[in-house]
Amino acid sequence: MEVIQVEGGRPFGGEVTVEGAKNSALKLMAATILAPGVSRLTNVPNISDVHVMGKVLKYLGAKVEVKGLHELEIDTSDIDRFETPYHLVAKMRASTAVLGPLLSRFGEAIVAMPGGCNIGARKIDMHILGLEALGVAFEVNHGNIHATTPKGLTGTTVTLDFASVGATENLMMASVRAKGTTTIDNAAREPEIVDLANFLNEMGAKVSGAGSPVIEIEGVSELHPAEHKVVGDRIEAGTFLAMAGLGKTPVTVKGFEPRHLGLVLKKYELMGLKVERGNGECTVSREGAIRPVDIQTLPFPGFPTDMQAQTMALLALCEGSCIVTENVFENRFMLASELQRMGADIRIEGHHAIVHGVDGYSGAQVKSPDLRGGAALVMAGLVADGTTTVSDIYHIDRGYECFVEKLQGLGAAVSRVEVPDQDTL
Ligand code: UD1
Repeated sequence: MEVIQVEGGRPFGGEVTVEGAKNSALKLMAATILAPGVSRLTNVPNISDVHVMGKVLKYLGAKVEVKGLHELEIDTSDIDRFETPYHLVAKMRASTAVLGPLLSRFGEAIVAMPGGCNIGARKIDMHILGLEALGVAFEVNHGNIHATTPKGLTGTTVTLDFASVGATENLMMASVRAKGTTTIDNAAREPEIVDLANFLNEMGAKVSGAGSPVIEIEGVSELHPAEHKVVGDRIEAGTFLAMAGLGKTPVTVKGFEPRHLGLVLKKYELMGLKVERGNGECTVSREGAIRPVDIQTLPFPGFPTDMQAQTMALLALCEGSCIVTENVFENRFMLASELQRMGADIRIEGHHAIVHGVDGYSGAQVKSPDLRGGAALVMAGLVADGTTTVSDIYHIDRGYECFVEKLQGLGAAVSRVEVPDQDTL
């Protein structure tokens, strides 16, 4: 099995460029289903989640061709299957993003029900309620959701209980060719939603208001394939900027919009870090002790849950105590017990983590609990005393392209190492 090995204490810093956003690329790939023909996506990250979405599209009958390291050509002319099987949905929950586009184009979709997930139950009830309001009929049997549109799709107002990213996206994609106008109230406002709306409009859709809590979609009769550059990955950027907070040398991250990390950067300034925002880039450097700052995750423009783990790894070394509150997902504090193995003092009480800052990390064998938690452990390893070995790194590969190589480029002593699987010893 492969692990990431980190020699702590080596100075790191410099410049790094991030890829296109995972959470946008996956939905844009699903959106290509909406129009028969060849769509082209550029700035697509070369990560395992994108490979899984490629498999989903191929399973449906699309042709997915890699045209360069970051360019995909997707031909959806011959889609002849409307089903996403469990082995793919189980690998990546975002496979459910094909539900809306399949219903829009073919009036039918079968999607395996997502099973358990390591960051909580992650239900899709809001997707279902919203789609029902548009005229979708659902049947659940044998672990699959079978969706049909007996009378077609008709625009209406859908008010979401919570600004769910996935539900907003599925509803946007289902309604682009519905009769009349659809209004999504309490819509998610993430930059990836805006990116999807832009792509849909490039395909001939009429979507307005993306980025605000009310999105309006005026149904059109036809869509055409389009070409689109994926927005830069604010979470990959935030991960490297969080690392800069632990190191001694500034880190400059290029390829994303600093305003997409608005509150994260504000909180980092309150922690005492120096933040220099530029056009499409940002530099963070440490100026002294890390000050304790409370964090609570919320939908955009609130503090992103996807930056919670990396920020906790930073706060665990603060001078004092603070509280990290997770409001978006249940069970997203698994990182805490791994950080404790490295000497952190973190107590979990429900959806709060009470963090008492310690002087430093001690290198240890730890296990990636999930994608962002895995990155946060590598980050802690960079400043730990001794060697840190992070296992279960397939989580990291889901969302970070060339993570180790990029860290090496910053001067860190990090490598992927093949070790015997402990279970087989
Ligand atoms: C997306 C992102 C993920 C990010 C999250 C929140 C992708 C591939 N993933 O996930 O990285 O952490 O947004 O910014 O884009 N919920 C329900 N019922 C529903 C839908 C959601 O209860 O029908 C709950 C979920 O269980 C979760 C919360 O709402 O607790 C937020 O979910 P949502 O915003 O939908 O996140 P995802 O789209 O799954």
